[in-house]
Amino acid sequence: MSDGDKSHMSVLLPEARVALFTTDAESKESFQALEKDWRFARVSLTVIDGDVEMAIKHYSSSQSPELVIIQTEEIDDGFTDKLESLAGHLSEKTSAIVIGPVNDVNLYRKLIGMGVSDYLVRPIKTAAFSDDIAATLIESVGSGDSRLIAVMGAKGGVGATVISEALAWHISSDLGQKTFFLDAAAGWSTLSVGMNFEPSTTLAEAVRAAAEGNEDSLTRMIANPEEKLFILSSGGDVMLDDHIEPEKFEALLKYLMGLYPVVIVDLSGGTAALKRAVLTRAHLTYLVSAPTLPSVRAARTLLHEIGDLRGGNNDGLNVILNMHGYAPKFEVPKKQIEEGLERPLSIVIPFDPVSFVQTESEAGKLGASKNGSEIVKNLLGPVKALLSISANAAGSSEEKNDGIGRFFTKRKTKS
Ligand SMILES: Nc1ncnc2c1ncn2[C@@H]1O[C@H](COP(=O)(O)OP(=O)(O)OP(=O)(O)O)[C@@H](O)[C@H]1O
Ligand SMILES: [Mg+2]
Repeated sequence: MSDGDKSHMSVLLPEARVALFTTDAESKESFQALEKDWRFARVSLTVIDGDVEMAIKHYSSSQSPELVIIQTEEIDDGFTDKLESLAGHLSEKTSAIVIGPVNDVNLYRKLIGMGVSDYLVRPIKTAAFSDDIAATLIESVGSGDSRLIAVMGAKGGVGATVISEALAWHISSDLGQKTFFLDAAAGWSTLSVGMNFEPSTTLAEAVRAAAEGNEDSLTRMIANPEEKLFILSSGGDVMLDDHIEPEKFEALLKYLMGLYPVVIVDLSGGTAALKRAVLTRAHLTYLVSAPTLPSVRAARTLLHEIGDLRGGNNDGLNVILNMHGYAPKFEVPKKQIEEGLERPLSIVIPFDPVSFVQTESEAGKLGASKNGSEIVKNLLGPVKALLSISANAAGSSEEKNDGIGRFFTKRKTKS
């Protein structure tokens, strides 16, 4: 696996089963420690005492999981023959990793040629183990290359919605990405005015359709104001009635991320449960704060809570200071804000009522004005960085198609 930037793997992994066949106490321990890794919350981990022969026996009578890891002390042809016969018992969707006793380039090449995802040398440290399993699962089960972007205000009215709208317009048009834009605010959504569409559905109906797998009905709920921009045309919910179940909302996210390379969620009007559901798995988060003390305090608390939610991992988290200069006498100075938040501000947006309120009222694009285009350029910076990571990841998986594929598939194409 590449030693490059691994931040694209800092996400909640997809639901999957992983089985380790080993008799080695150290490997068992490293594997079991993954239970504590927040990314593995939905991954079920099983250790089976045994080797490749045990795996053959096991999967001749039971269904194979998404990933099988085999530890071996023998690395001769006898082992690779057994591995070949194991492949015959595994499902088409199963990937394989082998752990062996020594570094051996020829063996590595042979295994990769057989479709094994990776060859690791014992002893395995938990961190390396988790990165390797994460990369294999992301590639094979496919959280896909879809990138989830969350936008949230530290308090009400700080500009999260207008910033999400600007991101949606400009990621789809300037960066040419097929983008889906979703508002978690249900009946409190102002998106139909900001993006100029007639709400044709409610968030409640959309999440129900996703949970039931009703694609026809979901397709009818999508507005498409520009070639690459798609919006859930929700907002018709009763304002004083919100009960969107987070599990169903997750089903909607899963459906959208299967179809759209970029999904943006405006969390500013969402419930705490929906905020948690999105923040836990977002690849990029914009936390928007005003420069006033109540907002900065709330931002500080939220940064800690988001960190806790993600097991201390704040990769991809950007703080945007918005409306800078709207009440200079009462604003916390930038330097002090950065000290209080214990991190640099990613973007500072000046108070600019003409650009913002005009954009909002006319359902225009923020980047259309001179001031606005500078703001948009800054807002797109983290997205560009994220997408090039994702492009690298896509590139590496294409490369891997030459050598690393799912175990069974590769074996079939070879025979
Ligand atoms: N930098 C700015 N300069 C001037 N006005 C701004 C700026 N950013 C946002 N606004 C204006 O502030 C108002 C609130 O913005 P917005 O609705 O996006 O905030 P929000 O955080 O989504 O609020 P809510 O908590 O209600 O969801 C809007 O009228 C918007 O145009
Ligand atoms: Mg809002």
